Amino acid sequence: MTVRLTRMDPAGADRDALVAFLTTEDFPFHVRRSIGVADAQRAIDEGAWRDDEHDTFWLDADDHGRVGLVRLEDLADPVPLFDLRIAGAHRGRGLAVRALRATTDHVFRTFDAADRFEGQTREDNTAMRRTFLRAGWVKEAHYRAGWPVEGGPPLASVGYGMLRADWESGTTTPVPWDDEPVSA
Ligand SMILES: CC(C)(COP(=O)(O)OP(=O)(O)OC[C@H]1O[C@@H](n2cnc3c(N)ncnc32)[C@H](O)[C@@H]1OP(=O)(O)O)[C@@H](O)C(=O)NCCC(=O)NCCS
Repeated sequence: MTVRLTRMDPAGADRDALVAFLTTEDFPFHVRRSIGVADAQRAIDEGAWRDDEHDTFWLDADDHGRVGLVRLEDLADPVPLFDLRIAGAHRGRGLAVRALRATTDHVFRTFDAADRFEGQTREDNTAMRRTFLRAGWVKEAHYRAGWPVEGGPPLASVGYGMLRADWESGTTTPVPWDDEPVSA
């Protein structure tokens, strides 16, 4: 099954569909689990889904149609980030791994200055953490108490990365965790 990226026009032709997606789906591991219509519209108007720093794509899958979206962030920076959201009805079918691979291909083919691509998720987002590893990404950071949780204590934010060099060569360069300097 192939997942393709279709560029979105968030403030134009795709506005209503984007608002509907954001306000009817549940995102239990995001800082904001649910989004109201007014907030969704305001964010679109402020360029959160497309401006100099952001661009957003529908995820279209063979046999399943439109299954979610991915937003690229920090595009003015040499290290872009992303936010991936699969619609609830399509979760658990292996689509996220294909979507992340397609997104990684798009970023490295489109942005010559990007030598790495990053993503973060909450420590208990098992599906996203499995997605990173299955797509060949490497865990690079574990920020304890780094993810605010409404009505509860903060959880850890876990960071993963993909190097352009690894993407090009199909290899995986591990993080040198045992490099702490020793005192003389
Ligand atoms: C996280 C998310 C993108 C994963 O998408 P998905 O299409 O459901 O994931 P897949 O079916 O491709 O599964 C990926 C891996 O997660 C595992 N997985 C899927 N759902 C799971 C669940 N509810 N609990 C535990 N593991 C799960 C799968 O078994 C697979 O791992 P495996 O290959 O080791 O078996 C999707 O659940 C989602 O959009 N959630 C809401 C938004 C979100 O949290 N986005 C992440 C922000 S970066």
